[in-house]
Order: sequence, then C-alpha cells, then structure tokens
Amino acid sequence: MASAVARTLRDVVDFPEPGVIFKDITPVLADPELLRRCVAALAAPFANQVDLVAAIEARGFILGAPVAVALGAGFIPVRKAGKLPRPTVAETYQLEYGTAAVEVHEDALQPGQRVLVVDDVIATGGTVEASLRLVHRLGGTVVGVAALCELSQLGGRARMAPLEPRVLLTL
Ligand code: PRP
Ligand code: MG
Repeated sequence: MASAVARTLRDVVDFPEPGVIFKDITPVLADPELLRRCVAALAAPFANQVDLVAAIEARGFILGAPVAVALGAGFIPVRKAGKLPRPTVAETYQLEYGTAAVEVHEDALQPGQRVLVVDDVIATGGTVEASLRLVHRLGGTVVGVAALCELSQLGGRARMAPLEPRVLLTL
C-alpha cells in the first residue's frame, strides 16, 4: 500500500511558492483500484468506532466522504473561513505557507459523538490540530486521525499526541 502510494504521488517543486515541495495526490485519485484501496485502508482501523468523519477543505473532502460511507458514518465539512452559512466556531492555524482558519457549524455534532478527522497530507500538523480543537470545543470525542501521507520531518504527529494518526505513507 505505502509503496503503491509512494510510486504514484507526484512531487511538484516550488508550488505554491518557492521552497515548498507540493505533494500532488491527483494521480492516486485517478487510479480506481488505488483509490479504493486507500479509502478502505484509511477506514479499516476505525470500523464500528465512528459516528462522524470530519474532513478538511479542500483535499480532505475527497477522501473523507468515501471514508465516511465506508464506515457507515456521517460527514462534517471542516471549511475554510467564511464558507459555512450558519453560526460557526473557528480555529486559526499556521500552514507550511501562510495562516488560515477552519470552521464548522456550531451544531455540527452532539456532545459525545465519536469523530474521525481525515485529511490528505499531514505536514506541520497545524490544519489537523485546529480541526481537533474544533471537535473538542463542540464536545465531540476524537477517535482518530487518518491521512494518506505524512511529512515526518515537519513533526506534525507530535501536535496530535496522544493520538497516533493512521497514515498510509510516511515520507
Ligand atoms: C494542505 C493539505 C493539508 C494541509 C497540511 O491543505 O491538504 O490540509 O495543507 O498542512 P499542515 O499539516 O502544515 O497544516 P491546503 O490548505 O494547502 O490546500 P487544500 O485546500 O487544497 O486542501
Ligand atoms: Mg488541505
């Protein structure tokens, strides 16, 4: 699984700005069998443990929705600031490049509901960490974090401790 993802991901140097190596997941998404296997592998450790998958705009949505379906769970869109129509809670975070905020509707989950957070790539971990704060603020129980790929040199995993993210490829 890891080697298939590693072979298929593409590095794009200096995107979106100089010095950043962008991990392009689009070839993984375009491969029907690899996409199916990735979704199954992200979901498998969390079978029968999840009420809701919270996935992060934009690339997290692509994997989060099929993972939710695979788990028989609902879906919460964690959106960039200003996109959700009803009252929200927000958390700011630092990206590898720039700063941003993510939001969910304030009634996105009920206290005690079990939530799996899904994104495509964990880099500094700031995006997932902000999403974990959102779930906790609404009284949700985070059962795990799942991502296609982790850039381990950036240390993002430490920001999720004691959770151990489920990652298909560690770079
Ligand atoms: C990218 C990626 C992760 C995040 C990882 O999202 O999809 O969500 O950065 O970085 P971090 O661990 O340092 O926070 P980005 O907001 O760049 O773009 P997207 O809207 O295409 O998902
Ligand atoms: Mg993203």
